[in-house]
Amino acid sequence: MWGGRYAAGPAEIMERINASIDFDQRLYAQDIAGSKAHCRMLVEQDIIAAADGDAILSGLDSILQDIESGSFDFKTALEDIHMNVEAALAEKIGEPAGRLHTGRSRNDQVATDFRLWTRDAIDTIDGQLQDLQRALIETAEQHAETVMPGFTHLQPAQPVTFGHHLLAYVEMVGRDRGRFADARGRVNESPLGAAALAGTAFPIDRHATAAALGFDRPMANSLDAVSARDFTLEFLAAGSIAATHLSRLAEEIVIWASPQFGFVKLSDAFSTGSSIMPQKRNPDAAELARAKVGRILGAFTALSVVMKGLPLAYGKDMQEDKEPTFDATDSLSLAIAAMAGMVDDLEANPDAMRAALDAGFPTATDLADWLVRELGLPFRDAHHATGRIVSMAEEQDCLLEDLSLEAMQSVEAGITDSIYSVLSVDASAKSRTSFGGTAPENVRAAAAQARERFL
Ligand code: ARG
Repeated sequence: MWGGRYAAGPAEIMERINASIDFDQRLYAQDIAGSKAHCRMLVEQDIIAAADGDAILSGLDSILQDIESGSFDFKTALEDIHMNVEAALAEKIGEPAGRLHTGRSRNDQVATDFRLWTRDAIDTIDGQLQDLQRALIETAEQHAETVMPGFTHLQPAQPVTFGHHLLAYVEMVGRDRGRFADARGRVNESPLGAAALAGTAFPIDRHATAAALGFDRPMANSLDAVSARDFTLEFLAAGSIAATHLSRLAEEIVIWASPQFGFVKLSDAFSTGSSIMPQKRNPDAAELARAKVGRILGAFTALSVVMKGLPLAYGKDMQEDKEPTFDATDSLSLAIAAMAGMVDDLEANPDAMRAALDAGFPTATDLADWLVRELGLPFRDAHHATGRIVSMAEEQDCLLEDLSLEAMQSVEAGITDSIYSVLSVDASAKSRTSFGGTAPENVRAAAAQARERFL
């Protein structure tokens, strides 16, 4: 491409470090769409002749077909997707091919391609996250009344409903989608026509190419347009946070599916066996979904370090943006799909969840609240009295509701029979009707609202 000035070709090692075609061929569709928009604009602006424009457009279409049918020969010597397409165009249509690159550079071209690609990736991931929300909401609706221990410090804390627990993830995923949507707004500006860095003297129409490619507007500054990769960083940051959320859900599923908990059973489709232990039922997909955040956050870290301290405008360093981003996107997409499949398929075991509530006195707070409400005790005194009642139950190895009234009265004389109404786990869950609380009626309403907000 630059043979005009170069007598010798590159060293083999130069070619190897320089070439990106092995991975940036993934941008082929965006590259061709960008070139078509640019070509149409060049014709519209009388910068190239209509006949040349027609030849270029049909040549680009036929290249697209070649690539999609697998007959296109990607060449490392041609470095990247942009030059591979341009060289193929020259082979197909001859001289007019050389007119396509008027008023444009690979610097604005690659930024355009990558923004278009990232926009598509965001849309795909958003749809997948919505599928995960749907699976969570549907399961939550079936378990609006299923009580289970809610934990803090992984110690039994208070009864919650399984539905409420799942809806917590619907909220997290909702915010993840919000972050991607925010990022999309900033991704969706067009660098095309910034040319190498300074703009161009040709009378191009950047607004027209931006509109043709579905961008909201052309980027305002040509130097920024070719130098900015914060759109990728932001995408990866949103992906890292989403992957963090997935890892928490995955971890809970790993715990819940262990025989010690037995809260859920994973379907055969989402479990694996062991090559030596015939009894095993391993949650590999959940474990891998839990782990994927490593690669995704790794991609964010890698690109942050690449971009740190880079002077304006374009530098070849930026070619390092693609591999981590592609890998992170594939990893995230796979992890979301696996989590959605797992949630869709998993079989909850309400009996095991209820049985787990026998440990750890999860209605102790309800007892303390009763002392405050019915006897007017300051909460701190109620907390103290409840602590003593809990240790009595511990000594007798029984549930709070199995203690005799006399036993409780020995700690706090004013306690009456009505205390028993708050000691059952169902009563406890049912009583938590504050906005955002775990009561079954709240969960049903929250699930209905989640459908409205997210599906
Ligand atoms: N393959 C390059 C990249 O991914 C395309 C832009 C090259 N620009 C240049 N001036 N060499 O960043």
